[in-house]
This record gives sequence, C-alpha cells and structure tokens, in this order.
Amino acid sequence: MDGNQREQWQSRIGFIAAAAGSAIGLGNIWRFPFITGKYGGGAFVLVYILILIFVGYPVMNSELLLGRKTQRAAVGAFKALAPGTPWILVGYMGVLAGFIILSYYSVVAGWALAYMFKSGTYMVADAVPGDIFVGLITNPGAILFYHTVFMLLCIGIVAGGIEKGIERWSLILMPALFVLLIILIIRSVTLPGAGAGLTFYLKPVLANFSGEGFLAALGQVFFSLSLGMGCMITYGSYLSKKEDIPLSARYIVVSDTSVAILAGFVIFPAVFAFGLEPGAGPGLTFITIPAVLAKMGPSGHLFGFMFFTLLMIAALTSAISLLEVATAYFIDEMKFNRKKATLIMGLLIWLLGFFPALGYSKLSHILPIRGMDLLDSFDFVANNIMLPLGGMLTAAFIGWYWGTDKAIEESSIGASAKLGSGYAFLIKYIVPIAIFLVFLNSVGILG
Ligand code: PHE
Repeated sequence: MDGNQREQWQSRIGFIAAAAGSAIGLGNIWRFPFITGKYGGGAFVLVYILILIFVGYPVMNSELLLGRKTQRAAVGAFKALAPGTPWILVGYMGVLAGFIILSYYSVVAGWALAYMFKSGTYMVADAVPGDIFVGLITNPGAILFYHTVFMLLCIGIVAGGIEKGIERWSLILMPALFVLLIILIIRSVTLPGAGAGLTFYLKPVLANFSGEGFLAALGQVFFSLSLGMGCMITYGSYLSKKEDIPLSARYIVVSDTSVAILAGFVIFPAVFAFGLEPGAGPGLTFITIPAVLAKMGPSGHLFGFMFFTLLMIAALTSAISLLEVATAYFIDEMKFNRKKATLIMGLLIWLLGFFPALGYSKLSHILPIRGMDLLDSFDFVANNIMLPLGGMLTAAFIGWYWGTDKAIEESSIGASAKLGSGYAFLIKYIVPIAIFLVFLNSVGILG
C-alpha cells in the first residue's frame, strides 16, 4: 500500500476466510481436543458452546466494530476513540501479546512442519514416537531451522498486504484445510474400535466436570477466537461500511467451533481405536498421532503427511494475523511502509522465538514461571494473563467508556440485523465479570 488509501478486504468471503483463518489454528486442532479430554468430554463441549455464545460472540463483534469504526489497528483504535487516556495501553498490550504468542507459536508450527516429512522415522517398526518427539525438540539446529522457515512464510505473506497477501492465501488455504479435515475424519471414524472414542467425546459425563473446567472453557474460547489482543480490531479496520459485522462474526465463530469439534472427531476415535491415552497433553498431537499412524500400515505415510500439513496450514493463517497486529501498528502509527514494517517485526519476533525454541535444549535451565520451560512460560503469560485482561478491558471500554449505544450504531451499518440490548447487557456485565473470573483463576495458579 502506498499513499493515504487504507487497504481493504476485496470480498466478504475473503475477509471471512482470513478472520476464520486467524481463529482456526493450533488452538483448535491440538488444544481443544486435549482439554476436552481433560475436562469431561461431552460436558466440556456443552459448556464451551454456551460461553462461545454469551462471551465469544459479543466480544468478536466488539473488536470488529472498533476496528471498522476507527479504520485503525489495535493501538490506533483506542487512541482515536479515547485520545489522551490510558485506554491506549490496551492496544499496546495487544501488540506485545502478539509478539509473545507468535514467537512460540512459530516454534510449535515448526514442529508440525518437521513432522510433515517425518513419516520415515515414526513409520519404522519399533519406533518410539515419544523419543522421536523429544529428539526433535531437543535438537537446537533442527528447531531453529523450522522456526526460521515458518517465520519466513509468515513474513512473505504479510508483506504482500491485505488483498494480495493475507486474503488471497486464506482463500486458498482455508478450503484446503476443510477438505483435509473431512478426509481424516473418515479415516479415523472407520477404524475398528473407533466407537469408544466417539462415546467418550459425545457423551456428557457431568461427574468429570468441575468449576475449573468452566474457567478452562472460557480461556479456550478467547485463545481460539483470537480475541483479547486487538487481532480482530486490526482485521476489522480493513472492513468497508458495506459489510455486515454481526453476520460475519457469526460465520467466524461457527467455522472456528466447527473445526475444533471436527478435530475431536479425528483424534478421539483414533486414540481409542489403538488403546492410547486421551489426556496425553502436548503429546496428543506429536506423540499419539504418529503412534496411531504407525499402526495404519503404508497409508500412514500419506495420512501423516496430510495431518501435519493440516496443522501447519491452520497455524500459518493464525500466525499471519499475529504478525499483522504488530505490522499494522507500525504502519498506522509510525508511518512505516508495509514491507519495511513486516520485515522488522518479523525479524524481532523471530529473534524472540529463540528463547522458546531453545527452551528444551540450550536454555532448558531457564524456568521463569513456576518451573515451566520457556515455551510454557510464554504461553502462560500471553494466554492466562494478557488475553483475558485485554478482553475484559475491551468489553469494559465499550460498556463503560465509549458506550454500547455507539457500538450498536456502528454494528447497524451494512447489517441486516443490528446488535441490540442483549449485546449491551452482555458487554457491560456478563463479559467483564466472566473474564475477571478466568483472570483470577490464572493469578491464583501463579500464587
Ligand atoms: N486463534 C488461534 C488458534 O486457535 C491463535 C491466535 C490467538 C491467533 C490470538 C491470533 C490471535 O490457534
């Protein structure tokens, strides 16, 4: 982009592909099935969906309309609506959260990149998938290589701009992701013994559900929908007044949730079919899935390549949105041109990524928070502190400072049905209080 004309999404479907691409990521395919397993299967899914409707959907609308109203990214939006006030700090915190999240997100995406070509190791008879995983993450050279390749992909796409970079690639990558997911579900649910996994996943066992599960669901909604750090404000800033925000928000929320739920249909039947452990945590994707693939016969090579390609694609369309938050800030507020802003931000994030990347090898002695390694510590700070705080403050900003009436008015532009008093009530009371509870929980874990 040159001159004063702000970039815009070229089509509604392009915008929705990009925003859904941001939402759908490692959070859906890896994290959602894992915590669903941990917090009671079907019961967790039910609570997750309720929170999605009452917290996720209103906050999604709020961020998108703040962006479109101001035509500015995270920092600029608060600056425009509340000049000279500390609200701008919410924007800065978002940019910082984007930095931190992408620095380790790229490392995990790098694991997926490595696994795309690893079927030669885990498909070998007697291979121990856990050892292969540990062998990878403790190898500094390999980890830095994949982290670098992944960051270069991100930089290349974001430097291309909104229409020719992010929108065009999302339109190619998102349908590919859906097709791959469907193929993998068919493979997984037709494995002998898959039924036990389906029962586990779909049958609500309320006895396994706890207050902690409620809070875990709330945190997962935030991370999964890319909320609480200005990402959707930034994407909203490239929307024209013709777009229907409440409708788009519904599409994004529904597609994000569908992918999370579909990912469970890939993982649980396969895990149960082979008598593996559903609550395996970080190993669920990188240890359990290869174990499953290894028992599939020669087709495991193909399905393995497909699964990790899927994971990498999902991570890529999220990672570019994380990079865009920082890039847009430097374009809007510092007047950098896009290529320069992307390159500098990408470089800084790449360097920051050395910490989580080497956290299992050269820097494994650094355990900053409660004995957690660098990657887990980065994740903890961003997810359990910065995102909930950012989301709570964004809701408070609209509910108590800028005004829900103005938000509702902005939502009505280009919309077939604007937001109403239900939205106002949720944003003023329910959302801040619910997020405050998550936040307290996070801090409680800290103490
Ligand atoms: N929503 C992404 C996922 O589920 C992660 C993300 C968080 C992306 C915040 C952008 C902003 O993986």
